[in-house]
Amino acid sequence: MAIARTDPIDDHVIEQDWPAYRADEHQIWRRLVARQRAHLPGRAAVDFLAGLDALAILDGGIPDFERLNKILGRATGWRIVAVPGLVPDDVFFTHLANRRFPAARFIRTPEQMDYLEQPDVFHDVFGHAPLLINPVFADYMRAYGAGGLKALGLGALKRLSRLYWYTVEFGLIETAAGLRIYGAGIVSSGGEVAFALDSPSPHHIRFDLKRVLRTNYRIDDYQANYFVIRDYRELFDLAQRDFIPIYRALENAPDIAPGETVAEDTLLQRGSGEYHA
Ligand code: PHE
Ligand code: FE
Repeated sequence: MAIARTDPIDDHVIEQDWPAYRADEHQIWRRLVARQRAHLPGRAAVDFLAGLDALAILDGGIPDFERLNKILGRATGWRIVAVPGLVPDDVFFTHLANRRFPAARFIRTPEQMDYLEQPDVFHDVFGHAPLLINPVFADYMRAYGAGGLKALGLGALKRLSRLYWYTVEFGLIETAAGLRIYGAGIVSSGGEVAFALDSPSPHHIRFDLKRVLRTNYRIDDYQANYFVIRDYRELFDLAQRDFIPIYRALENAPDIAPGETVAEDTLLQRGSGEYHA
């Protein structure tokens, strides 16, 4: 597929080259899907599950991005572009701001089923693509890209990246049926799907923007706290705010460590903190 290059930067985009995937790579995808499938019913958010269905990525192996992009494009104007792996912040944000989700092309090896250092195509596509079907969430992601570019210019990226972490990657949502997972980092993890909801260890804290912007995170273990939104509109609405006064107001606010709570927190589950890796 020819990819239109419109950005005045190196966008890091490569061809997915779908025909080049080997049978053993498709087989790893199928194993990963089968594992997640067992955990997701009753735990993943309905919009996430609906997105999985709409994209038809449960059956078959590693999906062809071109096929997914027809479905995503019709729904919300998003598309997935292949990249070699992690890309620089400005490149990442520019893609999001233009409704392109950069996804790694490679898939993990059988030895990396449980842990890998960098997001692979399974995390990026299985974890992130389904919610891009939801128009409200899709708009939030686009706005986040613009907000990321702005934060880069303000030296505020460390703060803003916590918002991405605790929503897009590790977010929980309250529903009439109970708490559900919408974060890509959880839904694509073999162990964290059950841990996030069923373990008494982590805190479940009502989402609060400034609180989240102050909270450090762990990148190599299950989270010690998860933040719970009421609906995706809550994210969309905060994205409309100008963050400059918010960054300024937080300039002297101390960071909060993972697992720590503060007096203003509304705790839906006070964690026992008993889990240690
Ligand atoms: N609107 C925010 C700003 O002015 C940016 C933003 C968008 C932040 C979406 C988070 C999510 O900086
Ligand atoms: Fe991710």
